Amino acid sequence: MPGAIGFDIYGTLVDPLEMNEHLRPVVGEKLADRFSELWRNKQIEYTFRRALMRRYEDFGICTRQALVHTATVLCVDLTDEEQERLVEEYQSLRPFQDVITGIEALKSKGHTLVAFSNGVEVTARVLLDRAGVLEHLHGVISVDDVKTFKPDPEVYHYLTRRLGTETSETWLVSSNPFDVIGAKAAGLAAAWIQRKPDARFDPWGIDPDVVAPDLKALAEIL
Ligand code: LAC
Repeated sequence: MPGAIGFDIYGTLVDPLEMNEHLRPVVGEKLADRFSELWRNKQIEYTFRRALMRRYEDFGICTRQALVHTATVLCVDLTDEEQERLVEEYQSLRPFQDVITGIEALKSKGHTLVAFSNGVEVTARVLLDRAGVLEHLHGVISVDDVKTFKPDPEVYHYLTRRLGTETSETWLVSSNPFDVIGAKAAGLAAAWIQRKPDARFDPWGIDPDVVAPDLKALAEIL
């Protein structure tokens, strides 16, 4: 039966670790990969902490503060201009190769498809538009509307309210295990996109309903 699907953006539709390409000229070849990984991990940590502490600041601020922190930890001097440019480039990430064909295949099966992200809606729209993905989706829903972050159950309930679907019939599709577990814990159905064969799921006893290597494979299952 056709259903409603919310796609996580970072790591699922586009690759945030691709920031290493933008970082290379700024921080050097040796540090670029480590920098982009640390930056991403810090950014996510900040969202977790802010949600838990009820000290919401939007995802753009978490991203910027994580960038400043990462630069400090790795002893990189970033000018204000470089900071500005890197944060701007965070909105220019290419989609994974399977994304557009996978989305189109899911759409042809009658599913309603939205992006569902920690990112602020306007930022997410710019990113998805540049990536050529926006026009293939039915909409973009941001946690910013409810001023908290994944995996607060509130954000998944907000997704179902916006889609007007039954909780158990609403799907979250994400490569981030914390997101999949968050959705399942809130009563949604969830698919884990195992983008790397060596990616491992958390052993919490809360498992995805579906595991697929990419969106094309997902479209064959849903
Ligand atoms: C998002 C982050 C969590 O797009 O990947 O919501």
